[in-house]
Amino acid sequence: MEITGTNALVTGGASGLGEATARHLHARGARVTVFDRDAERAAAVADSLGARWVTGDVTDEGDTAAAVDAASSDGPLGIVAAVAGGALGGGRTVARDGTPHPLDSFRGTVDLNLVGTFNTVRLAAAEMAGNEPGEDGERGVIVTTASIAGYEGQIGQIAYGAAKAGIIGMTIISARDLAAMGVRVNCIAPGTMGTRAWDLAPAEMREKLEAKVPFPPRFGHPEEFAALVEHMATNRYLNGQVIRLDGAIRFDPK
Ligand SMILES: NC(=O)c1ccc[n+]([C@@H]2O[C@H](COP(=O)([O-])OP(=O)(O)OC[C@H]3O[C@@H](n4cnc5c(N)ncnc54)[C@H](O)[C@@H]3O)[C@@H](O)[C@H]2O)c1
Repeated sequence: MEITGTNALVTGGASGLGEATARHLHARGARVTVFDRDAERAAAVADSLGARWVTGDVTDEGDTAAAVDAASSDGPLGIVAAVAGGALGGGRTVARDGTPHPLDSFRGTVDLNLVGTFNTVRLAAAEMAGNEPGEDGERGVIVTTASIAGYEGQIGQIAYGAAKAGIIGMTIISARDLAAMGVRVNCIAPGTMGTRAWDLAPAEMREKLEAKVPFPPRFGHPEEFAALVEHMATNRYLNGQVIRLDGAIRFDPK
């Protein structure tokens, strides 16, 4: 997939890894649409790039359809980075005091991460299916965002880890489902990346976490995530693949 001149939609594009992706794709010549539920930040990022922005929730069918429509309003939608998501608090399967994990917060986390990502993939792919095929019959590429917590989630990450494991599992299935349309799907499973959430953490906690990363012993840069999105978009033989971006860290149980 050529990036220059291609329309690209970035969910969660107002902050962190999504923002870095929006900026990176824009710098490579894509026409970017930032889709985020944070209107103020989405507008600030998009305006700084001269890009489009749409406010809404990735778990909502109408909002996400509107974002896909906006992103394809002046040309074919070729690239989608589904980055919106996050951990909504946590908790053990059964808390130390014997209370079972609340079902509503488990559902909420799965809804935001897994259902929100699937909603984006299905609506974006349906739009891409109408594109004129390019080289090899390619019509579009979608990059989703999991987490290494989807492989070895820590104690207290049952909801987030399960949701991200769902995104990992969906990768090969959606790539197979969409192969006939010439739409590729790949997934990035980041480790600890230096975004807003970690900026707020105490310095001592950050240093401890950074020291656990074998090499390089630091948080990942959002730009490193964005660079992998670019590679997944441009390397046509990369399909149905999940790549860990984690400096070789494997999470301890806690
Ligand atoms: N930062 C990390 O260390 C890390 C590690 C592994 C995975 N991830 C994943 O990477 C993604 C981005 O994380 P980040 O650290 O950049 O987070 P972030 O909080 O900086 O950015 C997330 C963005 O998504 C938006 N968003 C959240 N829910 C949304 C919804 N329902 N609809 C639309 N927009 C929504 C937020 O408003 C925000 O702008 C998430 O899916 C997260 O789970 C992050």
